[in-house]
Amino acid sequence: MQLITLKKLIFEKNIFAFLRLGKHVDTVYRTSFVTAANSSGLLASLQQGTKSLEQLQHHLQLDGTKQEALSAWLECGVRLKELTYKNGQYALKGKLSKHLAKQENQIAAAMFEEAIRYHYDALLSAPTRMQNNHAYQLADQDGSLIARSSQILEPFVEEAIEWCLKRVSTEPKHILEVGCGAGQYLVYLHNRLPACEITAIDYQLAVVEQAQRTLSANQITNIDLRHESFFELAGESSYDLITLHNNIYYFPQRQRMQVLNHAYKLLKPGGQLLMTTSCQGGSSAISALNLWFSLSDVGGVLPDAQQLTSTLKQAQFSEVQHKRLMPGESYFAFAATK
Ligand SMILES: C[S@@+](CC[C@H](N)C(=O)[O-])C[C@H]1O[C@@H](n2cnc3c(N)ncnc32)[C@H](O)[C@@H]1O
Repeated sequence: MQLITLKKLIFEKNIFAFLRLGKHVDTVYRTSFVTAANSSGLLASLQQGTKSLEQLQHHLQLDGTKQEALSAWLECGVRLKELTYKNGQYALKGKLSKHLAKQENQIAAAMFEEAIRYHYDALLSAPTRMQNNHAYQLADQDGSLIARSSQILEPFVEEAIEWCLKRVSTEPKHILEVGCGAGQYLVYLHNRLPACEITAIDYQLAVVEQAQRTLSANQITNIDLRHESFFELAGESSYDLITLHNNIYYFPQRQRMQVLNHAYKLLKPGGQLLMTTSCQGGSSAISALNLWFSLSDVGGVLPDAQQLTSTLKQAQFSEVQHKRLMPGESYFAFAATK
């Protein structure tokens, strides 16, 4: 490089300012590459052993016309030091790739993917989405991915279930789970209360199918699992316990009173409503979740814990209680009696 070029770079183009940004750019490239590598099955495939370009093309079900693009994508992984390429074989190299490729880290990997695909997009596109009235729709989310990532909350939700069961002297005979996701709490309830009749609904077909797989894997055949939306559910005084885990924000703010009224109607006298949800005022992950839903036509902002308590009382529920489930985080359980 000539001295004049270096002088121009330093004094006119401020090369130092650009160099300081390099590590941030690198993080964006790395997280994007590794997320796609995980969701496409590339990481799982390389976890089994090294693979050639042709083997990966076959594994990713790509035809020959995509070989150049596939090679360019894998080259990015090599440059980011997430992969190696030696003697015509690709292998895993980076810490992040190796971490996400492990079977035992699949729930964390799903959470990571949710952050990169949806939270990152919401942060990036919030101003233009607001300017162009371009709201997110349900189809913008992969329901199965969200159901998998929600499983990270399992220990907290199980604690909330136990807390709610302690509020009543007799065990519930009929439970309704609204928005059952991957179905992990159905398994918990089934094992915890074997004599109990359980009905579960979710309004996304792919999610219901996922819940069905969870039930089958656990040899559970006596849960009434339906592809149905909450407001479609008829019946009066039918349930002793209704649970809504991590989904009150799938309903817009203006509809939440209606949700509580409908739950009230479906409950037997003395029946319990249990909700678990992230609320306003949490970490950056909760703020990003709140942003996605506030930019969407799907639901609305996360509830405010005090406000939700008041709304429950306005909906005629009694013995309304809430409990912080995650120390230091705005993640709560709400229980109320009809
Ligand atoms: C974030 S996921 C949580 C899934 C599960 N409850 C859990 O905690 O792992 C929210 C779920 O609620 C479902 N859902 C939202 N609104 C619903 C409605 N009106 N009727 C039925 N299911 C609904 C969604 O399809 C989604 O599967």
